[in-house]
Amino acid sequence: MLSLFSPAKINVFLKVVGRRPDGFHDLASLFQTVDLKDTLHLAFAEQDEMTSTCRTLPRDHSNLIFKAADLFRKKSGRQFGLHVHLVKRIPQQAGLGGGSSNAATTLWGINQLLGKPYSVEELIEWSAEIGSDVPFFFSQGTAYCTGRGELLRAIEPLISQKVWIVKPDKGLSTPEVFGNVVFDELPLRDPENTLENILKGKMECFNDLESSALRLFPELVDIKHRLSEGHSHVSMTGSGSAFFCLGGPMPHKIPHTRIYPAAFINRPADAWY
Ligand code: C5P
Repeated sequence: MLSLFSPAKINVFLKVVGRRPDGFHDLASLFQTVDLKDTLHLAFAEQDEMTSTCRTLPRDHSNLIFKAADLFRKKSGRQFGLHVHLVKRIPQQAGLGGGSSNAATTLWGINQLLGKPYSVEELIEWSAEIGSDVPFFFSQGTAYCTGRGELLRAIEPLISQKVWIVKPDKGLSTPEVFGNVVFDELPLRDPENTLENILKGKMECFNDLESSALRLFPELVDIKHRLSEGHSHVSMTGSGSAFFCLGGPMPHKIPHTRIYPAAFINRPADAWY
């Protein structure tokens, strides 16, 4: 039995560059892992089976954990069943990448259980088939991601920050948020410039998906406003509906939201989180 943490991520900034002919969007985004984590207990078994602390999560092959196991079998030609026990802490429909992280952790874990026959580069290449932000989790926790999110440029760990993640009870659907982006209303920003500023110590947070999310879920306007009163760096993560506040004291409780305290984390080159 192998037990691995599966961390959430935030998008420190997220620029939507354009809509692509394949229906996806090109992005330029600084991704960062945080220590809000699920735990996966993995072992080979007669057949695929899953238990979980989360009652609402599918336990069949629509779960990204089994999509990852299926992909590993397809790419490697190996046959195995996988028993998974998932301790779920990362909220869903939040933009925190919980499902993608679980998929990356499963690929890493199966490779470990088999004695590491495949390189991290191979796992990265395979993992983009599962979802756009699965490859990111094979970085060491800080990466500038482009393309549909699957092209990684490793970035040195940022100065450690306390992060307050604020998740409204209502979640948002990723395709819906991407589908509602109005390009004319997005501010002109150079993401390489933002990255450079952050690396020089001048933090900047923004998310081009925010205006779309606010239109779909107008209560988010008030949530963002209230959080911004107490914190200078407040932004939505991914396609929402969660926001994060960097540093500062714990935000005041807002009705119909839950606060998750977290911090930036990075993994060593040769170990998981
Ligand atoms: O890649 P993933 O399966 O996570 O994407 C889910 C959906 O989010 C896609 O079907 C697409 O509608 C949207 N998406 C997008 N552009 C991206 C990533 C996701 O339009 N870069």
